[in-house]
Amino acid sequence: MRRHALPLSVLTAVALSLLFALPVDARDESAVRGEAFARAHCARCHALGPRGASPMREAPPFRALARGFPIDDLADVLTEGVDRRHPAMPDFRLGPAEASDLTAYLKALRR
Ligand code: HEC
Repeated sequence: MRRHALPLSVLTAVALSLLFALPVDARDESAVRGEAFARAHCARCHALGPRGASPMREAPPFRALARGFPIDDLADVLTEGVDRRHPAMPDFRLGPAEASDLTAYLKALRR
């Protein structure tokens, strides 16, 4: 019995840390890339982050989008092209990876 106590607890700890650490890390990295993308392409009109008004008054702050917009639809909206939804915005057509990074970033804003 005693022989198994240590290896089992070590195995459990490793399994648990893999289970919890991996997805969290992946999500955070994706959110970080999404934020960089937003900073480069969206920040001149939309307010990013938890505070502040948008540079362009008509553009909703991203934190408001994060709360009000069905975020899981956002990736579709972004890859489809946002131009059709609101003509004031430049014609964005994101790749699936960019769209999912941006979505991860918006989800992180919601917390
Ligand atoms: C040139 C200014 C400008 C830039 C750059 C810009 N936006 Fe917008 N965006 C707007 C304005 C203005 C609105 C709100 C007015 C409207 O819906 O017509 C808006 C609204 C939105 C909405 C809500 C759409 C809807 O149908 O309700 C989303 C989502 C959005 N923007 C995402 C983005 C993302 C993601 C980026 C960067 C890749 C971006 N925007 C860059 C001006 C901009």
